Amino acid sequence: MSILGNPENTIMKGQFSCRLLKSCLVVTIVTTAMLIFLEMIAVHNVSLMDYTIIPIKSENNYQNTSVIEWRELWKNKKNISKLGRILFLGEEPAVVKRKKKYQILVWKYGPKLEKRLIKQYTNKRIDPFQECSVSNCDITYKDAAIKTADIVIIHLHRTRSLAELPPKRGRKDQIWTFLTDESPYHTFMGNSKLSSNGKKITIADFNGIFNWSMSYRIDSDIPVPYGRTVVKKNRIHFQENPKRRDVLIAVMVSNCKTRNNRFDYIKELQKYIQADIYGNCGTLKCPGHFSKDCPLLDNYLFYLSFENSNCDGYITEKLWWNAFHKHSIPIVMGGSNKNYKQLLPPNSYINVEDFAGPASLAQFILRLNETNEFQNYYKWKTDFEVLNEHGYFQSKAYHYCRICEAMNYNDKNEKVYYNLQDMWDYHKMCHPAWNIPN
Ligand SMILES: *[C@@H]1O[C@H](CO)[C@@H](O)[C@H](O)[C@H]1NC(C)=O
Ligand SMILES: *[C@@H]1O[C@H](CO)[C@@H](O)[C@H](O)[C@H]1NC(C)=O
Ligand SMILES: *[C@@H]1O[C@H](CO)[C@@H](O)[C@H](O)[C@H]1NC(C)=O
Ligand SMILES: *[C@@H]1O[C@H](CO)[C@@H](O)[C@H](O)[C@H]1NC(C)=O
Repeated sequence: MSILGNPENTIMKGQFSCRLLKSCLVVTIVTTAMLIFLEMIAVHNVSLMDYTIIPIKSENNYQNTSVIEWRELWKNKKNISKLGRILFLGEEPAVVKRKKKYQILVWKYGPKLEKRLIKQYTNKRIDPFQECSVSNCDITYKDAAIKTADIVIIHLHRTRSLAELPPKRGRKDQIWTFLTDESPYHTFMGNSKLSSNGKKITIADFNGIFNWSMSYRIDSDIPVPYGRTVVKKNRIHFQENPKRRDVLIAVMVSNCKTRNNRFDYIKELQKYIQADIYGNCGTLKCPGHFSKDCPLLDNYLFYLSFENSNCDGYITEKLWWNAFHKHSIPIVMGGSNKNYKQLLPPNSYINVEDFAGPASLAQFILRLNETNEFQNYYKWKTDFEVLNEHGYFQSKAYHYCRICEAMNYNDKNEKVYYNLQDMWDYHKMCHPAWNIPN
């Protein structure tokens, strides 16, 4: 699989790397034929799928507008890393030096991260470079590798004090990178303390230490979003499987007390429209919470993709898996609308930010149901493909792949985050609760 995760791109890379060889034409023809065959199976063998796909030709084509334009990323494109541009702007990767091998040291918490990043919530180890555009990297957890490692990954969420960091840089050109999958509110686990004076650890304590960032943000040096959408090369019309119409909304929620008061919003919403609540905060039971999928959620037209904090760019498996993957329409609570517009295709979600409160949101949902206008929220699926990349529910985790790709593709000019609080701060990236009733 290619870095963009769509097979067409693989052909392009295939053509590129075998340009000098006579076999190039053969490879391309065979690959194309295989793809056409796979597409034929997909089209005709509909019983294998949980929805029907019909190839169509029509107007409203996103391929005309480039990937750059629909995201409007050109506005702040300058600080997006080369890897970010490949992932989000569809740029082509450079040819890599295959002979070069990079050593990745996952500092201290490598074994703790295995469940998700190596095992993907299965009980076996999965090669993290298996579906990666590059594989010339070794991962090590050994402290002694600090002397030789090309890149050192420091997992901030688990880091409890500055004293936990490696004592010193093993090589002058060694790239120290902080990793966090959480929003700025939850970067550190609650009980993290600075060992010296007992003060709570803050992001600014790490100023001048890190060269690269690794987070869900698209302007990270190593972006690791929970999911992405990519423009399809071939448009395929999406037709939804009928969903329940008696109860329209579902949510799975296990943390009932969050900074953005999402559960208060849900309780208020329930006064105006029925919403089925699965998990600890509700009465309905279903597997879920990272390891096992909850298939019951597939039956609902709408899913409340309410994040635990309202921070720009922080869009998790609650949207990518529980809504998009299941072809439910996400009702989002998280970042600003401006930010969602940049990250998600047009008309692919409903944002609570756009409503005066739960009552008007409920009214809107009931109307979408009655008029069948909810179908407008499927149109984007003709042009976009959804990729889940978080490792939950046995989806593929790409963290180590992305590190290796960044080592191969990114600029290695000297870079130091001297003022982390300027780029990783909840005052700048997060918002108070949206439209919570008094
Ligand atoms: C899309 O591209 C075609 C052919 O290049 C062009 O005729 C058409 O006007 C374009 N449509 C839009 C919306 O840009
Ligand atoms: C949704 O619309 C269908 C079809 O009109 C209707 O039968 C159903 O009662 C509606 N559901 C709700 C919750 O209003
Ligand atoms: C990484 O950061 C350190 C500490 O500020 C700095 O001395 C070093 O030059 C940086 N290295 C790179 C490759 O940017
Ligand atoms: C990238 O630029 C934007 C806009 O200038 C800024 O808000 C953001 O913090 C920058 N990102 C990084 C990682 O420096």
